[in-house]
Amino acid sequence: MAQGPAETGTTRKLYVTEYHKYRDHMLRLDEESRRMRFGMAVDDEFVVDYVNRLNDMKSIVYANMIGGEVRAAAELRPLAAHARGEAEAAFSVEKEYQDSGIGTELLGRIVRAARNRSITRVYMNCLAENRKMQRIARKHGAILQFEQGDVVGKVAPTSAHAFSIWREVVEDEMGFVMAVLDLQRRFMHAA
Ligand SMILES: CC(C)(COP(=O)(O)OP(=O)(O)OC[C@H]1O[C@@H](n2cnc3c(N)ncnc32)[C@H](O)[C@@H]1OP(=O)(O)O)[C@@H](O)C(=O)NCCC(=O)NCCS
Repeated sequence: MAQGPAETGTTRKLYVTEYHKYRDHMLRLDEESRRMRFGMAVDDEFVVDYVNRLNDMKSIVYANMIGGEVRAAAELRPLAAHARGEAEAAFSVEKEYQDSGIGTELLGRIVRAARNRSITRVYMNCLAENRKMQRIARKHGAILQFEQGDVVGKVAPTSAHAFSIWREVVEDEMGFVMAVLDLQRRFMHAA
């Protein structure tokens, strides 16, 4: 069983107005985690540009928030129009919060979000050496295939039903409250 820090925070959808927190999280990733996240070494400029383009990519971002900061995140990005019903997912957990079950939880949220949007296939690309990612993908029933030296995990979410949609709606409402509290915390810090 994964073991990490006691504090695992709360997971919720991130609002577009909070994407700067996602950027800061990405910039905090250690060199190795950042390489694993993007499948290659990338510099700060690349990360900033990537987050700036998130909105255009129509991504949904789930974040694990601790003390008002994003410490881990998962993205679900629909693929181009010709690949209707397919999406790509990517994950990042800051080093000190890894191995505490956050990545597994985030993947669960991503699979459910995909399911509620009639996405029938979610792809997760990772480097062949990325055993942790492969482990959490397997835990969610992904089929792993080697493709050009990388590993591609494919999850086929089952169809949405009233309960899966209801769960997402309720969690989004709770997430909204948490976002307001995070905003309040920011104002209090600034005051
Ligand atoms: C991959 C990543 C998302 C996983 O998140 P996490 O919160 O650390 O993962 P969890 O704690 O939920 O689970 C990790 C699992 O891997 C297992 N694990 C840890 N080290 C391992 C290793 N070297 N080999 C195999 N499994 C390993 C853990 O035991 C745990 O499995 P368990 O719960 O069955 O015991 C995170 O480590 C990360 O952000 N890495 C850098 C970026 C990245 O690789 N992104 C993925 C590509 S998009």
